[in-house]
Amino acid sequence: MEHRRSIVILDFGGQYAHLIASRVRRMGVFSEIREPETSAEDLKHAAGIILSGGPQSVYDKGSPQGDPQIFDLGVPVLGICYGLHWLTQTLGGEVKGGKVKEYGRTEIESTAPKDFGLLQGCPKNFTVWMSHGDEAVKLPKGFERIATSDSCENAAFADSARNFFALQFHPEVTHTEHGLTILKNFVGLCDADPWSIESYAKHIGEEIRRDVGDNKVFMLVSGGVDSTVAFTLLNEVLGADRVQGLLVDTGLMRKDEVKMIKDAFDVLGITNLHVEDASEEFFRALDNVYEPEDKRKAIGNTFLDVQKRVSAKMGLTTESGWMLGQGTIYPDTIETGATKHADQIKTHHNRVEAIQKMIDKGLVIEPLKDLYKDEVRRLGEELGLPHDLVWRHPFPGPGLGVRILCAKEAMSVQDAGLHIDVSHAVLPVKSVGVQGDGRTYRHALALFSHDPFSVPENHWKLATEIPNKNKNISRVVQCTSHSEVPSFVFTPDFLTRERADLLREADNIVLEEMRRSGLYESIWQFPVVLLPFGTTKNGQSIVLRPIDSSDAMTANASSLPPDVLKRMTERILKISGIDCVFYDLTSKPPGTIEWE
Ligand code: XMP
Repeated sequence: MEHRRSIVILDFGGQYAHLIASRVRRMGVFSEIREPETSAEDLKHAAGIILSGGPQSVYDKGSPQGDPQIFDLGVPVLGICYGLHWLTQTLGGEVKGGKVKEYGRTEIESTAPKDFGLLQGCPKNFTVWMSHGDEAVKLPKGFERIATSDSCENAAFADSARNFFALQFHPEVTHTEHGLTILKNFVGLCDADPWSIESYAKHIGEEIRRDVGDNKVFMLVSGGVDSTVAFTLLNEVLGADRVQGLLVDTGLMRKDEVKMIKDAFDVLGITNLHVEDASEEFFRALDNVYEPEDKRKAIGNTFLDVQKRVSAKMGLTTESGWMLGQGTIYPDTIETGATKHADQIKTHHNRVEAIQKMIDKGLVIEPLKDLYKDEVRRLGEELGLPHDLVWRHPFPGPGLGVRILCAKEAMSVQDAGLHIDVSHAVLPVKSVGVQGDGRTYRHALALFSHDPFSVPENHWKLATEIPNKNKNISRVVQCTSHSEVPSFVFTPDFLTRERADLLREADNIVLEEMRRSGLYESIWQFPVVLLPFGTTKNGQSIVLRPIDSSDAMTANASSLPPDVLKRMTERILKISGIDCVFYDLTSKPPGTIEWE
């Protein structure tokens, strides 16, 4: 895509570059992320350059450095935070190293002439998000201050003749008032190519045809949004006789999930998806497996076995002219400044060695590799996939497999060390949590209340305090099926089809109730978990785990309205074999989103 005139974001680290790039695209202009060291020679197609923020100080050893010649390209440049510091130093100004790194909202005052381009549409005073650390104490030649604050004299400055701008604060984050206006004003000064998902769909078609040549494409379709959209796009561009999809039914998918995907494809006339029902094989591999990580391994290995066997049987090999299609998206492909300079490059599963070798040989096609998730979703709708399908909540690769807890024996605690005056019980199972950078594996604590559908303030408080302090407990739930502690009966069990079916029913009720109450789009993810105990022999329990998050790294338990909680609980209790329902109140950390 190098030939396009784009806004290039040089990624100096932190989490900012992707945020800026996706915001710019939403303004209808093409943007891309490049490593900070990218040479000016390689940036000749840039219509404007944004130097992103980053966590380091320009005085740190090995801090990222750009190519000073980018300032001779004759295009507008915007330096943000670290970008401002590097710009200042490079152009002959002076940066003072600050010690305290304190993040927060600050009020700034514009000192620019009225109608100054970059601040067009902003009031004289407004609140911004700033990270106090280094700051510019002497401006480079040709620059003038355009905003100031109590804590930072040169909060923003500009060289209007050359269209160079520098901001000590982050315009891309939502805490900065008018931040998007500022970004938009900058983008307006750059002569970048327009960007829209419709034009992308047209443009990518040519690219796919060119890259695939006379080959054909084989794709694993998981049911997830990315692979579903990629498969649809390949079909649209190449035609059904040159594309083959394979969906492995693991037996761990949601109720009617395979049917929903097949139906969506049917409407579009896409019939070249082979569904392999391998559920028997998966349940066999999970027979007598109890440990969370062992289950993940068993599922992963079985998946590979099935995929190899079926693709060989169908003759889908590279030797017979088949390339591999993948639903990789933009954030997966970019080695960002954040990972690069933190020395902790994460290998994404779409980039493992065997796949990388195929990529080097030109045997892999990734038609979504320039898109962000929300763009993939819009493209999916553009291609005619149903709204509900492309806007689905994230779902883990191993499916319901990580939501069915297995145990050989009840895990009891003699003395949990709790001194609380709320009616409570330590549940006889353990679940995974996070503390610092480490994994924990501890009990869940259930709290009881005379009104089980509303959560009293002190329960929320205990849900934060207990897992943070107590060595035995990693999460806190409220029981919504009982107002007093019942006697629990534990039944040893592993992952069986019967248990998967039970969970599928409960999960489907939750989905229906979320949609009915209009909560589906506001809740980020809603795992439903099955526990191997109830109040009768063979009885089981269900955990409701709605969460709010933006990136799954941290999360808060969503607060469910009592009437919704009541309807979900009552319907789930009607499923034969389910005795208890719990509502998980724990945030991440100290809990994780999934229970294992
Ligand atoms: P945790 O439980 O670690 O989950 O807070 C964070 C996000 O990752 C998803 N998740 C997985 N996704 N394979 C996946 O593809 C897995 O093994 C897996 N485990 C957790 C989880 O659903 C959440 O969105």
